Parts: sequence; C-alpha cells; structure tokens
Amino acid sequence: MSLLMPALIGHRGVASEAPENTAIGLKRCKQLGIKWVELDVTLAGDGSLVMMHDETLERFRKPTERISKMDREALLKVDAGEWFSPVFAGEPLLFLDQAVDLVKTLGMGLNLEIKINPDLPVEALVDGVLATEGLDALQHGDRLVVSSFDHQALARVAASKPEWPLGALYEGVNAQWRDSLVGFTPYSIHTDFETLTDDLAADIRSEYPLYCYTVNDPITFKRLLDKGVNGVFSDRAHAPDLHALITHP
Ligand code: G3P
Ligand code: MG
Repeated sequence: MSLLMPALIGHRGVASEAPENTAIGLKRCKQLGIKWVELDVTLAGDGSLVMMHDETLERFRKPTERISKMDREALLKVDAGEWFSPVFAGEPLLFLDQAVDLVKTLGMGLNLEIKINPDLPVEALVDGVLATEGLDALQHGDRLVVSSFDHQALARVAASKPEWPLGALYEGVNAQWRDSLVGFTPYSIHTDFETLTDDLAADIRSEYPLYCYTVNDPITFKRLLDKGVNGVFSDRAHAPDLHALITHP
C-alpha cells in the first residue's frame, strides 16, 4: 500500500529558511520542492483558527500577550516574520482558511496539527477545524492528514469525519502507546525520535506507518530509516543531505 506522506515533510513549513506557519514559508516550500508540510493550528479568543505553535506571542517578542485574548483583527496586526529575519518583516500570521487555500493552490499535501490552546475549550478548536471549507477537498485528493497530541480531539474529529486520516502524536512514546487510541483508529503514529527504541519502532510499524519529529541531520535520519520509520518532519525537508538517504520515492 502506498503511503500518503513522503519520507521528508516540511516542519511548520520550512522552518530553517522562512518564518514558521506563514504564507511565505509555504511558498518557499513549493520553490524548494517540498511536497507535504506540517502546520500547527490553534484557537484564538474570537474563535478564529490561527496557524500558530504557541499560545502566546512570546516568539514575536511580546511574551505577555495571549492568543486567547486576541481576535482576528488584532492577530492580523502581528508581525510574524521580523523575529526570524528582517528580510521577512511585515509577514502576517496565517489563518486556517488561508492556509488551506494556499496548500491547495500550491498543489501540496497538508499534515494539520491541532494544537490545543490550554486557555480555551478543545471542542471549539476541533469543531472549527471540522467546519473549515477546503479540508474535505484536500482529503479527497489524498492530501490531508490531521494530527494531535490530544487523542480525545482526534476522537472528536473521527466522530464527524471518519474518512479523514488521523495521525496520533506522542511525546515520550512508551510500550502503552495503544492505550490512548480510544474512539478512533489512527492512519499513522507520529512521535519524537528521542524516545523511540528499536522495539517500539518495530511494534508500531507492525500496525501503522510511523513518522518522527523533528529531524534535521542526516545521521539521525539514517538511523530512523534503518529502524523502519517511514518519514520525518524536518525544518530542512528540502536539504540534499537528507534526500540522499531516501532509497524509495
Ligand atoms: O507534528 C509534529 C511536530 O510538529 C510536533 O511537535 O511541538 O513541533 O508541534 P511541535
Ligand atoms: Mg507541530
């Protein structure tokens, strides 16, 4: 069976080259030949779905400002590029509807990570994702995987969209990894590479495709491929030293 996602997936876009989770980052991915991207989506105070990894604006040098206290208008004024490099000054935050449109236009695949905002209800975030236009079209084209560390969130997705492929995310994966798969059957398992032993990798691979984050160097990538890992999320998913290790397309 062929897999949905390739062996190298852009982490937060192409986070080594452009500000994470932004439109300019997605366009840079396309220029660099990256076929699938992982992006984080979280909930803002007015119910907007914004492409952000964090629940504060600390990354943008405003540590006390919380996303849960902001609306789309306020978020649109945030400079999401300058912190990365002055070259990207003025790059706005991206919203889920815009991200889906752009991924579709660029002809890419999307691993959408539902990032729980601890200040706000999980249900509102998941229901917002479920209601977002364009995700069904991506899924119909085999260009969507939805993932989360919050497996109850994934069960809520499965209840409405049983056809959407789900990635169960783990940090500190252990031998009890199956126990949290309640209310959904994952398409794939996504875990940090640091805690993935050979035995765990073999156990997971006996049932599901397996992906690791965040892998930026060829030595780690090779070690994981040798363990049977199907692919990795990388800040440099375009890099020739990583691509050189892939023996199958
Ligand atoms: O989805 C893989 C990876 O992005 C999970 O960790 O913290 O970078 O969102 P994080
Ligand atoms: Mg992520």
